[in-house]
Amino acid sequence: MDINHLKERILSLKEAKGAVILAHNYQPPEVQDLADLVGDSFQLSRAASRMEAETIVFCGVRFMAESAKILSPQKKVLLPAPDAGCPMADMVTPEDLREMKRKHPGAPVVCYVNTSAEAKGECDICCTSSNAPKVVRSLGAKEVIFAPDRNLARYVQSQVPEVRIIPWEGFCPTHQRMTPQQAAQALREHPSALFMAHPECPKEVLEMAHFVGSTSQMLDFAESSDAAEFIVGTEEGMLHGLRKRCPRKTFHTLSPAPLCPNMKKTTLELILRSLEEEVEEIQLDPQVIHRAQGALSRMLEVI
Ligand code: 13P
Ligand code: SF4
Repeated sequence: MDINHLKERILSLKEAKGAVILAHNYQPPEVQDLADLVGDSFQLSRAASRMEAETIVFCGVRFMAESAKILSPQKKVLLPAPDAGCPMADMVTPEDLREMKRKHPGAPVVCYVNTSAEAKGECDICCTSSNAPKVVRSLGAKEVIFAPDRNLARYVQSQVPEVRIIPWEGFCPTHQRMTPQQAAQALREHPSALFMAHPECPKEVLEMAHFVGSTSQMLDFAESSDAAEFIVGTEEGMLHGLRKRCPRKTFHTLSPAPLCPNMKKTTLELILRSLEEEVEEIQLDPQVIHRAQGALSRMLEVI
């Protein structure tokens, strides 16, 4: 099937089923262009909780589609690429969190949304990379368990020094691979560029950044900044959205370009199959949903 025919079939089936397509900022360009909404983890969670459509096609990775299901259990949530996981989300289990709580009694648990539904059930509140310092401050606690991303935990510690952060030692393989040498090389090659980095990057890379933020916060920063040139310290899928939003500005990745293989598993063919056959529908035990819902909803209430 040629690409235009494929897109037409997806759009007409989407219309007929009253579905919406949500896509993360790292998705392939053709998927982003087809989506009703493209955003970061926080925006997509919030949209899923407010959406009227009965079916959500979630172009991203499993924990994101699960979050949509947890926030809207009555809706059908479809994940077109069923094997799109997040290695960082697999680095912490509910048992790990229970053990951590036993070791630090009384310390609330903040879970990055990059966790399984079961792990979310063991935490007090979720956060994303766009609101992590705010979420930690909102707890008013002296110490906080933060899982699973050690780099985001260290970044939060630098922003919220009054709270002791107890990190879990997980990481994102895509961001962990970025080095200060790569950032230095890009800054040498593009001396007038501003360097934007995702808080999942190692501390030494973040220390070199002019701006640290979530994927959508990078889009806003690039748009509102007076600068004309930027180095993008995150997954290369961001370049598509940045170039679309700021067509007169120039964007460079690090070399080699950071790639999340799981985010690239979604294809137009899989989206069509997902709408035609309603696969893979996210199914979660109602008790798991109930336990995880509190943590996600509390995050959405933090302003
Ligand atoms: P954002 O919430 O910034 O979109 O990040 C999600 C993610 O998986 C980053 O690796
Ligand atoms: Fe997970 Fe990293 Fe991919 Fe984000 S970029 S989905 S954290 S593996």
